[in-house]
Amino acid sequence: MKLWSGRFDSDTDALVDELNASITFDERMYQEDIDGSIAHAGMLGAQGIIDPAEADKIIAALREIRQDIADGKLTFSIATEDIHMSVETELTARIGDAGKRLHTARSRNDQVALDFRMYLKNRIPQIRDKVLTLISVLHDRAGENLDTIMPAYTHLQRAQPTTFAHYMMAYANMLRRDVTRLEDCLERMDEMPLGSGACTGTTYPIDRRRVAGELGFARITENSLDGVSDRDYALELMSDLSILMMHLSRFSEELILWCSWEFRFVEMSDAYSTGSSIMPQKKNPDIAELVRGKTGRVYGSLMGLLTVMKALPLAYNKDMQEDKEQVFDAVDTVNNCLPVFTAMVQTMKVHPENMRKAAAQGFINATDCADYLVKKGMPFRDAYTIVGRLVNHCIATGQTLESLPLEDYRKMSEVFDRDVYQAIDLKTCVETRLVEGGPSEKSVKAQLESVAAFLKERGYHEA
Ligand code: ARG
Repeated sequence: MKLWSGRFDSDTDALVDELNASITFDERMYQEDIDGSIAHAGMLGAQGIIDPAEADKIIAALREIRQDIADGKLTFSIATEDIHMSVETELTARIGDAGKRLHTARSRNDQVALDFRMYLKNRIPQIRDKVLTLISVLHDRAGENLDTIMPAYTHLQRAQPTTFAHYMMAYANMLRRDVTRLEDCLERMDEMPLGSGACTGTTYPIDRRRVAGELGFARITENSLDGVSDRDYALELMSDLSILMMHLSRFSEELILWCSWEFRFVEMSDAYSTGSSIMPQKKNPDIAELVRGKTGRVYGSLMGLLTVMKALPLAYNKDMQEDKEQVFDAVDTVNNCLPVFTAMVQTMKVHPENMRKAAAQGFINATDCADYLVKKGMPFRDAYTIVGRLVNHCIATGQTLESLPLEDYRKMSEVFDRDVYQAIDLKTCVETRLVEGGPSEKSVKAQLESVAAFLKERGYHEA
């Protein structure tokens, strides 16, 4: 007999039971569901809504049920539909009538809203900590490569000289924003919806703030219709995870390029690469490719939930049961990708000589050559034109700006002198970019310090 079968004369169709049940995926919220019920029962007892002795009995039995589920001694089936009714049915089987009092002043609508928020509140710090670990790895890899010169690209064309350290810190900064986005999301999510009832609250003199305090919520939701209808906290998390995965996916794309023989800037350790079953020479960057691919899955969760929610009238609709699987999948995906991605970055070998070789080609010091003329008094536009012609000449004659003889420079402009070679030396080009945010050792060290302070504020002392 179903808990809700009061007005029904006959059973639901077996296929309906299968489609309707959510126990196969919402049982993973059993801890949150039982914690919520314990707080609710304690409050009902304290408020005299149920007998305090019965409340104690309920709480003791709920603790046992929680332990039995954790130990694998208790499993549920679709017969009891979802985690809420499964626990309640088990409770009543164990303690009889007292169990039947637990659902006083409560609906599954506010119960599921509570469980889902608590579940996500518990998961966000796990994801955040994994992002912090990745940031600390990037911080360290940057620290080892302060003078590893490489080209920076625009349009995937060699553009200007930078260092591997500067590059790693670019990703560290993106990930730092991902951390603060997750923290903001957690802060906004921190509202306790129980007491919203089915949709318009309850007539019982419940104490919502007591429940909120016991469950570690900062606030209570302020409108009962909103309290049971809102899923934007999950959408916000999906958005944050999508942005985080987008960052990891861009990074993956770069690493895949850099592993190719065309670049050879980095090499993945054997533990984070795979081979080919037919081509004996292959070492493939599968982990980076998987992370790039799984990004699509996380975007899918965001789009899926946005679409489920987009036309639902207030308050609860059964469509909303579709909120959980995709959100769980996105949380799992991010949780699984981060540690492997981090280990891959931590163990990959950097090839400074190949980066340097790429930096020596492609005229990435042309801007510096123009700036040389500007520092000697020439307007930038004129300097730009002259260096453009010089580059053209070098391409036609198979030379570089470094190898071009001084007399050729002077044919273009009398302003050029012997010190031009010093000015266009790649090391000079990097080290004179002292601007805040730039690639000079001094600038990158400041970036390292800032990120280290960020990590330390969050308990990451090793950085
Ligand atoms: N299993 C349901 C869900 O996940 C719980 C809420 C059911 N509420 C209801 N009125 N049928 O959304």
